[in-house]
Amino acid sequence: MQDRMVLNKRLLELKEKRKAVILAHNYQLPEVQDAADYLGDSFELSRIAAQSTAEVIVFCGVHFMAEVAAILGPEKTVLLPDILAGCPMADMASAEGMREMKKQYPNAAVATYVNSSAAVKAESDICVTSANAVAVVNSLETDEIIFVPDQNLADYVARHTEKHIIPWAGCCPIHHRVSLEEVLAARKKHPGVPLMVHPECRPEIIDEADHVYSTGGMIRFGRETDHPKILVGTEMGLIYRLQKENPEKEFCLLSQGLVCPDMKYITLEKVVRALETLQPCITVPKHIRGPAARALERMLATV
Ligand code: 13P
Ligand code: SF4
Repeated sequence: MQDRMVLNKRLLELKEKRKAVILAHNYQLPEVQDAADYLGDSFELSRIAAQSTAEVIVFCGVHFMAEVAAILGPEKTVLLPDILAGCPMADMASAEGMREMKKQYPNAAVATYVNSSAAVKAESDICVTSANAVAVVNSLETDEIIFVPDQNLADYVARHTEKHIIPWAGCCPIHHRVSLEEVLAARKKHPGVPLMVHPECRPEIIDEADHVYSTGGMIRFGRETDHPKILVGTEMGLIYRLQKENPEKEFCLLSQGLVCPDMKYITLEKVVRALETLQPCITVPKHIRGPAARALERMLATV
C-alpha cells in the first residue's frame, strides 16, 4: 500500500497530463471521495459527465455509471478503475427479457432506472434516476409504464402518479434487506430523530420514513435541516460526506447491513493506475449506444 500523499501527488500529475476529471459517487470510499473533482448521485454525475470538456473521465462508481458517461460522451475516454465494480440490480434485467415484456404490454412506454446495462437502456423510451423518477414518469404521455429494473422504486413512483406502473421484478440487494424490525429498533434508540431513506428500500420502510431522497437529495437535506441528528437509510458511504460537510450534526446509519461491496472496489491506488494505463476503458457498441443515448438524453431534457 503506497503512501496516501505520494498517491495524491501522482494523481495530480496524471490528471494534468491526461486532461482528466475524477467523478465519484456518494458511496465511494473516503480516500476516493477526497480525491474527486465532483461528488454526486447518479443524476448529478451523468449531467456533469455529459457537460465535461475533459478528455478522460475517471468514473469512481459502478459499471453502469461509467457506461452512462461513455454513452453520453463517446469521444471521451471513460475509465472505471476496477472493472469488477458492478451493480447486482443492473444485472437483474436483460434486453431479451424487456423485449418479451414489451410484447406483453404493447401500449406501454418503458421507463428504465439508470441502474441498468446499456443494452437494457437501448430497449427503453426514457431513463430515470432516483432523483427524478416521479417527474419523468409524470412527463410521459402514455398511461401505462413498464418500469425497469427496481420494483421498490417502481412502487414509490406508483404512489406519486396516476399512471399504471408495471414493475420489473428486480431490486437492490443492499437496500432491499433493510428490515422493518431494524427501523423500529432505530426509532426506539433515536426518538424524535428524522429518518431519510433511499427509494430502493422496500415499501414498508418507505411507509416508516419521514423523507425519501436520492443520495443527492439526502446531501441537501443534511445541509438544510435544523435537526442536530439524522437517521440515514442508504449505503454507508454517504455518511462520510454528510459528516464531513456538516461536522456539527450527527448522522446515524439505519442498518449495519447497508454496505455495497461493489462500491468499495475502487481505491485511490486503482484510480492512479487507471490514469497511468488508461485502463479499464469502458466503451459501448455503436448500435446500442445510439438508442441508449436517446433514452438518457430524453431524461436530461425533461428534468
Ligand atoms: P443515487 O442516484 O441516489 O445516488 O443512487 C444510486 C444507487 O446506486 C443507489 O443504490
Ligand atoms: Fe447497485 Fe444497490 Fe450497490 Fe446501488 S447500492 S450500486 S443499486 S447494488
